[in-house]
Amino acid sequence: MASLARNFEELFGRKPEVISEAPGRVNLIGEHIDYSEGFVLPFAIADRTHAAIASRPDGLVRIASHQRKEKIFSIDIHDVKPGSKGDWEKYVLGVLWSLGITTGVDILVDGSVPAGAGLSSSAALECSVAVGLNELFTLNKSLEDLARASQKAENDYVGMPCGIMDQSVSLMGKVGAALLLDCRDLTTESVPFSVADAGLELLIIDTQAHHALVDGGYAERRAACESVAAKLNIPSMRHLTLNVLEASREKITDTEFIRARHAVTEIARVLDAVIALRASDFIALGKLINQSHNSLRDDYEVSCPELDLAVAASLEAGAIGSRMVGGGFGGSAIALIKAEDISKVRDAVTAAFESHGFKRPRFFTSLPSAGASAARY
Ligand code: GLA
Repeated sequence: MASLARNFEELFGRKPEVISEAPGRVNLIGEHIDYSEGFVLPFAIADRTHAAIASRPDGLVRIASHQRKEKIFSIDIHDVKPGSKGDWEKYVLGVLWSLGITTGVDILVDGSVPAGAGLSSSAALECSVAVGLNELFTLNKSLEDLARASQKAENDYVGMPCGIMDQSVSLMGKVGAALLLDCRDLTTESVPFSVADAGLELLIIDTQAHHALVDGGYAERRAACESVAAKLNIPSMRHLTLNVLEASREKITDTEFIRARHAVTEIARVLDAVIALRASDFIALGKLINQSHNSLRDDYEVSCPELDLAVAASLEAGAIGSRMVGGGFGGSAIALIKAEDISKVRDAVTAAFESHGFKRPRFFTSLPSAGASAARY
């Protein structure tokens, strides 16, 4: 990233010591179950955030972003604690804090993951800084440790109670494969995901409906699962079966029942999706993707009219499977389609959005890409 290093030098008057990068993600299946110790199956996308970093002897932290006209934000490292000043910079400050950094730094970031599209631009930012600091200060942290530190930054510094999926895949993603992640202990397995070999394409549809996850709907869903676990005296939704859930109906509220039903069925769908993928059975995978969307829409209630329309219009235009991805309430949907149907699906979704008076959707495709990396400059 020669231009990032050049911009860093122009801005801060010195060379960076480390250049790092971390990608955004798409989740194939396994939504809203990472904080319930479930399985998820995301992959890292090609779009990523780059960071250039150098340490400072005077305890000052200076942060700038190429996307924000390189306006410099400054704070003393001793003031870097939850509740500090900062807007988007809190994602960076949170990582400095959670990694226990006590030295000043200059950081310039340059990101290409669309913000608010449900593709984890925040995890890309956190993880690019985390791997960069790990290299700069020779912290020797494992990827699991860095994922937990990045999640802690988002939970306790930014105030968004996210799970561990986005940070894990941003750090551990592999070219050509989806990452089967067990969110209980962060063990992973690579599951080859080569749709192109099957004549397919995974289309990402950014609905342009951007609802911030810090708004409360996400935290409420998480709290509902935790409340069910507490009432049923189990550690998490991972320990629940449909039979036990049915038998426990009296002990929980109706809302808690449907939230838990999503979690239990979604965990099972992820494991079925892995079997389907390993058998290159994309029809079965498509069905599971559709079921996941229905469950997120009806039981978990985290979809929105734009996402439902993107899914319905792409299925009508021939998609094999389609669903919302990420936290929901806006953001992106994915559609698994035959490569030759790509313009048909795009046109159908665009026309449907137009006739509903929604913003014009944006389309991307991305192959599973590499996770984060950092190098001395
Ligand atoms: C957001 C969170 C993740 C995960 C997803 C939903 O992306 O950051 O931890 O909970 O929503 O699957």
